[in-house]
Amino acid sequence: MNNHWSEYWQQGHTTSFGEALSGNYEGVLKNVWQPIFNSLPKGFLVVDVGTGNGSLPLLLRDELSASELTGRIFGVDLAEVNLISSPNQTSHNIDITLMSNTSSEQLPFEASSVDLYISQFGFEYSNVEQSFNEAARVLKDDGQFVIVFHHSGSMILNRNRSILTLIAKEEVHLLINCLAKMANAMGSVNSQTDVERIKKDLQCENIRAEVNRLITSLVMFDEAATQDCGLMSFVAQFFKAGLFWPVTKKLEFIEFMAIQMDTLKIRLTELVNAAFDETKLATFVGKFHQNDFMLNELKVLKSEQNEVLGWYLHASKLIYKIEKASIN
Ligand SMILES: C[S@@+](CC[C@H](N)C(=O)[O-])C[C@H]1O[C@@H](n2cnc3c(N)ncnc32)[C@H](O)[C@@H]1O
Repeated sequence: MNNHWSEYWQQGHTTSFGEALSGNYEGVLKNVWQPIFNSLPKGFLVVDVGTGNGSLPLLLRDELSASELTGRIFGVDLAEVNLISSPNQTSHNIDITLMSNTSSEQLPFEASSVDLYISQFGFEYSNVEQSFNEAARVLKDDGQFVIVFHHSGSMILNRNRSILTLIAKEEVHLLINCLAKMANAMGSVNSQTDVERIKKDLQCENIRAEVNRLITSLVMFDEAATQDCGLMSFVAQFFKAGLFWPVTKKLEFIEFMAIQMDTLKIRLTELVNAAFDETKLATFVGKFHQNDFMLNELKVLKSEQNEVLGWYLHASKLIYKIEKASIN
């Protein structure tokens, strides 16, 4: 599964929200971290799992760059990831290291060495039981475990479920095939004369009409999802910038488009499977006590427009001596 994430992160995104979020997290998904980062001790060690291109490490550094605090944050991810450097970064008090090909089920940190374990939309993609055991191993006594993770009823999930339904439709497959037919039927297009020739060509006109019919059908089914999945911009690119490309380049582009749709399907299926509903959450939280964790806060994060964004969970590893004393 990490291959498609590697490909995604190599495109230079800062967060997993792609084009929908050009910079780093803003609003609620940024602000929720401020009190957590500001309560870190001097010389801290933080681990961010499923870090992607380091969105949370960068938020942490931005938040603490004006402070005297020094510390290190390691972002781990199964995929190949790269830190996206933010232009205003001059502070060196916070050291960020991203570790690619590293799983949250097996962290390369010593036992009881980590002050804060964090994740934003990353932890839930892993085997949560194993990752949680690993968090318990690496965290110090009284270490903090704070995660923001997908809610099965969030606006993110609802939007992506709609995209998933759309790209499973036969029309998407037919549309991609139609574009390939069009590329072959048009032949070489080098001049305006060729464009005029194509317009008069009956086969090209029929394929173009079929392309229009398929797009109209998808738009009528779900316009937002047709836009969001990137299909419309691929088709526009094919007929505008791509018009004068050689046939081979046009066909390569169509293959790329098909791969993008398949990858999106895999990514969104993983997302739907990763999200937590109340039952899954209750099972997860039910294991806290046996792992010597105390749940401090569990809430639904909502946007300024009152839309559900995800779950927020804050727990801490019990201090062994206190726990033992209270049992005796
Ligand atoms: C939705 S992205 C979130 C990235 C980032 N935290 C953000 O908010 O932009 C999920 C990430 O989790 C990573 N991932 C999935 N399973 C993992 C595992 N078992 N261990 C570490 N990382 C994992 C994926 O490779 C992907 O980069």
